[in-house]
Amino acid sequence: MNVQQPGLGIALTGSGSATPLAALDNEKLSQLVETSDEWIASRTGIRQRRLATPTETVTTIATQAAQGAIAMAGISPMDLDLIILATSTADDLFGSANQIQRDLGAQKAVAFDLTAACSGFVFGLVTAAQFIRTGVYQNILLIGADVLSRWVDWSDRRTCILFGDGAGAVVLQANEHDRLLGFELRSDGTQNQCLNLSYQPQPQELLDGITIGQGGFQPITMNGQEVYRFAVRRVPEVIEKALFRANLTVEDVDWLLLHQANQRILDAVGDRLNIPPEKIISNLAKYGNTSAASIPLALDEEIRQGNIKAGDTIVTSGFGAGLTWGAAIFQWGR
Ligand code: UT7
Repeated sequence: MNVQQPGLGIALTGSGSATPLAALDNEKLSQLVETSDEWIASRTGIRQRRLATPTETVTTIATQAAQGAIAMAGISPMDLDLIILATSTADDLFGSANQIQRDLGAQKAVAFDLTAACSGFVFGLVTAAQFIRTGVYQNILLIGADVLSRWVDWSDRRTCILFGDGAGAVVLQANEHDRLLGFELRSDGTQNQCLNLSYQPQPQELLDGITIGQGGFQPITMNGQEVYRFAVRRVPEVIEKALFRANLTVEDVDWLLLHQANQRILDAVGDRLNIPPEKIISNLAKYGNTSAASIPLALDEEIRQGNIKAGDTIVTSGFGAGLTWGAAIFQWGR
């Protein structure tokens, strides 16, 4: 009998996405903080964002996105070996991936969360790839999902205008041909203070001589200009490195799919790399910055609209808190 080996290459074979129904446009947002549609749209490209209701959780939207990806890949949840949930806003600090595993009925899969803020999807893609390349797993579900609306200070106009909620997912499968062509990941903890969602401990004396720090997480704080400068400088660098590793040049790129943070960042990175606007994917206007979800959400929309086709070469880059950033180059499909 001729048994076909799955191979140690990686193919992205399915995508899915989900966003909450409720939309908040800039006009309405200006009833909450002193801002305007003109200011937000001209500085960021964002026109509206989706916000999760109390019953829409990271788990529910991630599960919905995952179901779309699994169906497109033509596999069943029981085929999954591993589920990675890239998120910074888990429903449970112990992790939400296992709730998704339960809700999908993916009993055979091991599941864990991965936290790398807006770089989470790219870091997750590379992490998932290592399990396939070593021959350990054949079918992996990677989800990027965030509900940042829970953690935004809705009285801070410098940050609350940027973020929205959403989820996107892909299925990665072992394949004869390796479609992950190159990657490069980076971290710089010395700039950690630029963007935080941090825990603030309050001293609480439990017993004489035993004091613990029991507090809570503070809303997102950000130095917008620093983050902007970091992204415009570091993202082209890391993309060039990944292209070099893949033995490709920008002429080989069909699509530039950056983390959807700000249209001005997308344009500046495209300019620096000499990639024309028609190759730059953007859905910022509809969703704002959905953190780990932004790349797979935009990817799924482009695939379902028939714009991204099998064999297209996609350069993707995530960047954000940590600071973390990274790029991965892949071809869609087997
Ligand atoms: O995943 C990564 C997430 N982070 C990012 O992508 C952030 C990257 N940075 C940015 O996108 C931009 O820095 C922002 C869009 C956040 C801000 O744009 P900016 O051009 O850097 O504005 P700024 O912070 O320098 O503020 C300029 C002015 C200030 O007024 P004054 O001090 O010049 O009088 C702000 O108070 O704009 C004011 N301002 C606003 N005005 C109306 C700040 N936010 C708003 C607002 N509406 N929402």
